[in-house]
Amino acid sequence: MMWKLTVPASSANLGAGFDALGIALTLYNRVWIEEADGCFIESKDGIAVPTGPDNMIYDTVRHLYEQCGRPFSGLHILQENNIPMTRGLGSSSACLVAGLLGGNHLLGEPFSKKELLDRAAQLEGHPDNVAPALLGGLVTAVMEDGEVHAVSVPVNPKFRFAVFVPSFELPTEKARAVLPTQVSRLDAVYNLSRAALMTASLFSGDVENLRIAAQDRLHQPYRFPFIPNGERVIRLAYDLGAYCVCISGAGPSLLAITEDERFAEKAKQQLADYGLNDWQIREYACDPWGAKAECI
Ligand code: HSE
Repeated sequence: MMWKLTVPASSANLGAGFDALGIALTLYNRVWIEEADGCFIESKDGIAVPTGPDNMIYDTVRHLYEQCGRPFSGLHILQENNIPMTRGLGSSSACLVAGLLGGNHLLGEPFSKKELLDRAAQLEGHPDNVAPALLGGLVTAVMEDGEVHAVSVPVNPKFRFAVFVPSFELPTEKARAVLPTQVSRLDAVYNLSRAALMTASLFSGDVENLRIAAQDRLHQPYRFPFIPNGERVIRLAYDLGAYCVCISGAGPSLLAITEDERFAEKAKQQLADYGLNDWQIREYACDPWGAKAECI
């Protein structure tokens, strides 16, 4: 039996909501998966993917079979990777979710969605990409003792999410290694109040406070040094009227929230005018559904 998995990209943190907030975007990886005798992994779009048993999707499915005590003989996997890798758009979470969802269907669905979410967050280490990838929408997620407590809410449909994607990569481990392990009460309150303001603003459509809501003291200031021209691109986006701009996940991509249907076109022109040729602009809506599995 072959399963087709469709998993959305995700943008985590949304400024102040470090390791807690994330949004699913209408940009998708697709994976076709079936049981096989051996490891057969192909890329549908020519994008290089690991073709051995270390492939994340393969390894995740094998792990799930082990958990169920079911013999695992191998898989045939076909991947279409539209989510750019190592750019802060949840590409590794999308692979994890594809593996867990695909494995669960191949096994006859022994795990609930909540159990898959817990497992995904345990494997990823934080819930703010895997939760929107699995649930869709704007997700607030808390992880406690290996369990995820998450709520997904829809985003006001007028919002557009413009993503500035640079040509360089930034591994999440590197972007996490520079963060302080302790923060002051002042900074904690600064962030938690803004994270709450962000979810309320995106849900309600009240744009007035979005710029304040996206400010952050826990991760962005430490990560900008890894994003050459990042602060320039942020200024450019604000000058074009973005409601707010923040680092997408651990970076290096930047997320701008707007309503302007010409924003991406204008930003593209400005990037060219400023010679910022290693940045691309793409625009998405919020994906309200999350990962999908179809038997084909
Ligand atoms: N919350 C995580 C971080 C997201 O900022 O490190 C990583 O994609």
